[in-house]
Amino acid sequence: MNIKNTIIIMVLLLMACNPQEVKFPAIIPKPDNIQTMNGQFNFKDCETICYQSEEAAESAEFLKLLLGQYGLDYKIEKKDCKKDKGINLVISDEASADKNSHIISVGKKSIEIKASSVSDLKYGIQTINQLALFSKENGFIIPCVKITDKPRFQYRGMHLDVSRHYMPVDFIKKYIDNLSFLKFNYFHWHLVDDQGWRIEIKKYPDLTRIGSVRKETVIGHLSTKPNKYDGVPYGNYYTQEEIKDIIEYAAFRNITIIPEIEIPGHSQAAIASYPFLGCTGKKIEVMTRWGISPNIYNLEDTTFKFLFNVFDEVASLFPGKFIHIGGDEAIKDQWRASSRINNQMKELGIEDYEELQSYFINKIADHLAKKGKQIIGWDEIIEGNIRSDAIVMHWRAWVDENIALKAAKRGHQVILTPTSRYYFDYYQSEDMENEPLAIGGYIPLDSVYLCDPVPEDFDTVYMDKILGGQANVWTEYMPTPEQVEYMVFPRILALSEVLWTAKDKRDFSDFLSRLREFELYFKEFNINYAKHY
Ligand code: ACM
Repeated sequence: MNIKNTIIIMVLLLMACNPQEVKFPAIIPKPDNIQTMNGQFNFKDCETICYQSEEAAESAEFLKLLLGQYGLDYKIEKKDCKKDKGINLVISDEASADKNSHIISVGKKSIEIKASSVSDLKYGIQTINQLALFSKENGFIIPCVKITDKPRFQYRGMHLDVSRHYMPVDFIKKYIDNLSFLKFNYFHWHLVDDQGWRIEIKKYPDLTRIGSVRKETVIGHLSTKPNKYDGVPYGNYYTQEEIKDIIEYAAFRNITIIPEIEIPGHSQAAIASYPFLGCTGKKIEVMTRWGISPNIYNLEDTTFKFLFNVFDEVASLFPGKFIHIGGDEAIKDQWRASSRINNQMKELGIEDYEELQSYFINKIADHLAKKGKQIIGWDEIIEGNIRSDAIVMHWRAWVDENIALKAAKRGHQVILTPTSRYYFDYYQSEDMENEPLAIGGYIPLDSVYLCDPVPEDFDTVYMDKILGGQANVWTEYMPTPEQVEYMVFPRILALSEVLWTAKDKRDFSDFLSRLREFELYFKEFNINYAKHY
């Protein structure tokens, strides 16, 4: 044996006795507790995903699908494989004293994820998914570790407006994949607005035949006057079959979909489809420019019958408990101007138009309650007296900073989605001239991360009323999926951590260093992200 060979053998022996430290991969949102230990686990040595209770069978399929994306091919078996080379999925009440938590134990040969429910198990699975992806360049080797984790808020949502611009089914699925990857649990699907009705309703085919198509669209920013139009008809919608497929796709990935059907305003596309719903008797078209339409539903029995039928179809399509009824920005001029509406108000003993708005929404909410559904509405819904189980989505801090507290004091649960922080249609750079056209505003990554959704002076007595938070993605200026991604990424990663990770465990520079590792994720999944950070 010559000297060169001897040295090589010695080096190899040294490496075998003293394996190099492997880097702990990035995880976003940051887990509650991470304890790395001696030893390493290699995903490539592992062969099986194991589960013991039928409840966890679907989770095993979920993990297999996720790891399969990186070429890690495992079989699934219903057994305990703690002693074999496997990933063990365990649903057990003793996961922790803490409900909604999960524990991941990565040993040298096997991994165990223990959780008290299927959805908590799936959060653990997404952590394993991230550990596998971000260890790919290290040969899928990670340090042994114990992770205990749980969400800060029970509601962690992302919204998407598909009325202003329709987004293809495959993109909706990709959006859902991303929400799941980042441990969000709700997708708020804004299906209906003045500029297009995008959900098939079997009883009212004109909602999609007429209401899903606008004859043209305003060009450029709405504030650039005079407005010019492109002259090109624009439209599309989701069939109920497509919606069922998307709901199933989302449920498998731990995401509940909340459909939004706007009442009483933002209803121009509906009124264009069925003019009997409106207040003026005039035939109108689907709106072709951005902004808020003055058209609003009337109070006739035929209108409520129409809405009950629409909401019945929506309620039977979407299995989740929540249905969003909009309720924002209802311009009431047509109500004020109509002698018919004013007479009806008198008969009902309703004194003002804010109260009339609540009367309108309560009728739908009462109807949905009989079907076991609970409404969510934008914060205007508390301008009058609304059912106390209506959930208030707080967005207008600029009107009243205390709306969230006011709603909570009145007994409402609240979801925080403040315009100044979580409107991802706002610019993310001050260099607006070199940015793609956006609605306005400025919300950089650090302001998403550093501002807490709970208002600073929020009375902690009412903290249990805060369900969580959400970012909104209005698509007036996002005509394509690529543009939606550009506006959403990476701000969504900051939001995921704000909503999941305890406030005292968040650190922006640490977040940024993990975010850099996530460039691999953007590349791997072909995500068009903004690179300002
Ligand atoms: C909203 O931004 N109109 C809720």
